[in-house]
Amino acid sequence: MTGFPIERPRRLRRSPALRRQVAETRLDPAAFVLPVFVVPGEGVLREIASMPGHQQRSVDEVVPLAEEAESLGVGGMIFFGIPARKDDRGTSAWDPEGPVPRAIAAVKRHAPDLVVWADVCLCEYTSHGHCGVVVGDVVDNDATLPLLAKAAVAYADAGADVVAPSDMMDGRVGAIREALDDAGHTDVAICSYSVKYASAFYGPFRDAAESAPAFGDRRTHQMDPPNVREARREVRLDVLEGADIVMVKPAGPYLDVISEVRDLVDLPVAAYQVSGEYSMIRAAAERGWIDGDRVMLESLTGIVRAGADIVLTYFAVDAARALGGDR
Ligand code: PBG
Repeated sequence: MTGFPIERPRRLRRSPALRRQVAETRLDPAAFVLPVFVVPGEGVLREIASMPGHQQRSVDEVVPLAEEAESLGVGGMIFFGIPARKDDRGTSAWDPEGPVPRAIAAVKRHAPDLVVWADVCLCEYTSHGHCGVVVGDVVDNDATLPLLAKAAVAYADAGADVVAPSDMMDGRVGAIREALDDAGHTDVAICSYSVKYASAFYGPFRDAAESAPAFGDRRTHQMDPPNVREARREVRLDVLEGADIVMVKPAGPYLDVISEVRDLVDLPVAAYQVSGEYSMIRAAAERGWIDGDRVMLESLTGIVRAGADIVLTYFAVDAARALGGDR
């Protein structure tokens, strides 16, 4: 090859059809998982101020959203629960009548083509908003493991396909795997939030899930943003403990991490485009500063191009619609 003028990269960019044909990355709604916040009660559909387009929903209001997502080809939904009652051990997290088990069962019945995920963490269920049992002023790692395992089993009992621990306790994947297997749920998969950074991008989520810590922060268990070798270590440990899918979170500011993890393992890699990533795009679009639909698709394309096979995103339904509409 001799370069210009023989080589002209512009030849393959001349028309939409040519560009589509040579695209190296394609977005498929089947890769998307939509996060949903489930509350107790009936007929509850409460707008989340910091996440325009998203609501806290009672189970009966989750069902129509699930049906819409399914009809658009969205791959799945992940549930976060806001319980009626919080206490210092987060005991509502494994209540079989809690919002998450009920949502899982309802969606399995009404939208059977969706993969149903359940987030496993105690922060929405504890009165202090921490992800586990607090002793002194730290989250006690080993005392938290059996509680996470109980919650995971409750979601598996309700019919979850995938349980996704987001707490960042050491050893929780192994503890959950063992508890699931003991309960007969050998076929329920674990997606570990293996690489979860202590990120300021979670701000809007903590309003949506009512899970902001009452004191302190999560930096003694979530990862420090500068680190990527440590990400590989977390992933290796979770694979050894039996993770079926590994996740990187947030997504957009950590594309290099997604790419490293993709190279490291053969498992599917998920990435979570978190609440702050979503809300920043929505806010700028509302002001007319950016083209919201194009930035949405470009941000998702970047995450998939970096190596994510699965994307958890608040844009799941909007992006599926933008990509082609009802099937
Ligand atoms: C913890 C959890 C959080 C998110 C997902 N699971 C919050 C946190 O760690 O504080 C954040 C997701 C988002 O920002 O969209 N249960």
